[in-house]
Amino acid sequence: MKHLLYLKNLNQETITEILDTAEHFLNHDNQPIGSEKILQDKTLANVFFEPSTRTRSSFQIAARKLGADVINIDEEHSSRAKGETLFDTLKSLEAMGVNYFVIRNKHSGIFDEILENIDHNSRLINAGESNISHPTQGLLDLLTIRRHKKDFKNIKTVILGDLSHSRVARSLTEGLSIMGTGEIVIVSPIDYKPDMKLFNGAEYTDNIESALSDADVVVTLRVQKERMDDETQFLDQSKYFKDYGLTSDRLKLCKKDVIVMHPGPMNRGVEIENTVADGEHSVITEQVTNGIATRMAILSIIERGKG
Ligand code: CP
Repeated sequence: MKHLLYLKNLNQETITEILDTAEHFLNHDNQPIGSEKILQDKTLANVFFEPSTRTRSSFQIAARKLGADVINIDEEHSSRAKGETLFDTLKSLEAMGVNYFVIRNKHSGIFDEILENIDHNSRLINAGESNISHPTQGLLDLLTIRRHKKDFKNIKTVILGDLSHSRVARSLTEGLSIMGTGEIVIVSPIDYKPDMKLFNGAEYTDNIESALSDADVVVTLRVQKERMDDETQFLDQSKYFKDYGLTSDRLKLCKKDVIVMHPGPMNRGVEIENTVADGEHSVITEQVTNGIATRMAILSIIERGKG
């Protein structure tokens, strides 16, 4: 693995190697631990043209644990705001010794072009691309599921929410399909039904009760107002919660040992009830912690592959 752009480009063996390596970076209390400084003398740039709390911070922590220097660039506070092209920005960062680019972009289709423009020794990781791809989130979600369910076979995963705008749902569906999972059900109001050609291996329903029946894993998603072209696409929040919110009553439809996931940021009282977000089935904070170990694994596997 030289770069990480799309989860669908990985095979089962590579995903298993990433998850196994991530496990190695978690201690007995499931906290990420330090390691040999495999990224000593390397510099990683987090280049984020969309807001982020988890992805950016966890790449920063992961890279530092591996010995790298880290810099953070965002649109508002960089010379991009003065009209500099993305490629001139990246060239300038390379001139300062940046080797790893972790990039989040609100527009789709830029990553192949970036690859053509960066130095052949630089490495590129997709940290979120429009509604297309969020491979590191998909991988940390797979790690979280595997740690609770042991493997992916014979489990029913339900992905619930604004699917038409969700890169998280797309990457997780790709990952689960590659890992040969049991059943993937995606559920949303019909207004947020995605193009099912992009969700190979999943079945769609707008019936939340039937979807949740006997689920092993439920992934809830935020309604992404910022990706909607006009206000009419934004459904009334209290009606959305009533019809599609994950409540403790609805959770009773799932298996007794169901886990509840959410990539964050959460809108409590819209897609998820407080008692569920903070309840005994929630593994939402574990996902965040697993994000550090997963990103450490990705960086160290890419670095080991250099040579
Ligand atoms: N899950 C996720 O991508 O969160 P951030 O937007 O905070 O990075």
